[in-house]
Amino acid sequence: MEPDVTPTSDPFVAAHAAAAQLAKHTGAERHHVAVILGSGWLGAADRMGDVVAELSVTDLVGFPAPSVAGHAGVVRSIAAGPKRILAFLGRVHLYEGHSPATVVHAVRTAVMAGCRVVVLTNAAGGINREYSVGQPVLIADHINLTGQSPLTGPTPPAPFDIRFVDMTTAYSPRLRAAALTVDPSLAEGVYAAFPGPQFETPAEVRMAARLGADLAGMSTVLETIAARHLGAEVLACSLVTNMAAGLEPGGIDHDEVLTVGRQSAERMGGLLAEMIARL
Ligand code: HPA
Repeated sequence: MEPDVTPTSDPFVAAHAAAAQLAKHTGAERHHVAVILGSGWLGAADRMGDVVAELSVTDLVGFPAPSVAGHAGVVRSIAAGPKRILAFLGRVHLYEGHSPATVVHAVRTAVMAGCRVVVLTNAAGGINREYSVGQPVLIADHINLTGQSPLTGPTPPAPFDIRFVDMTTAYSPRLRAAALTVDPSLAEGVYAAFPGPQFETPAEVRMAARLGADLAGMSTVLETIAARHLGAEVLACSLVTNMAAGLEPGGIDHDEVLTVGRQSAERMGGLLAEMIARL
């Protein structure tokens, strides 16, 4: 399938065009909940409802092909009772060389497709020593150490011409409370986003711990900023795939990160599907 809209350099116009393509190809005038499935979360893709349509993101304007192993580059339209879910199987990252606008394009497209709730999932290193590998942690707040924002640049076109977005309740207390009704034992933590792609040094992990971080990762925060800018509510959850550098003897191996992700897929899939049903 060829994109049927001329690519554009304005990210808001591109997201609007991609949302129109989605509506056409999925037959759904609007979607309600967007889900971005990061490493370790793809197991949820088959458990959220009935898959009505599946497209490659590269069939939509503005999406590059994903390049990281374990990230599939597919978007599904899923019917779950009265709700339509847009599930992105995989994301793109700053460390692949993409701009902040490209990194948040899926979120902007989903919000323009009607989603007022955005659910972000990722794999992360555990900084909080009370966490263990394989554990899901709800993100309560973040520290953006990437030095980047999707809102840098000219003032966005109206009605998106808000510059100074309030991040006080970036991770919706309402949605976190709903998630906690599914699993009251879920931990909550602060996610520190590093630019990557190298894992952190032990000194960087100690720094993040002193700053108040519980989790280290390389995604999510720019997507949260973009979703809040467009007025959508955000729920985010990390899967702890390893303890962060220096907390345990030995190094960190990306294959191990992927293995833990695969091993936890079943459990995370069930948890996420149940959470989404309650949003
Ligand atoms: N650091 C950053 N990102 C990650 C990690 C980590 O230790 N594990 C999985 N994603």
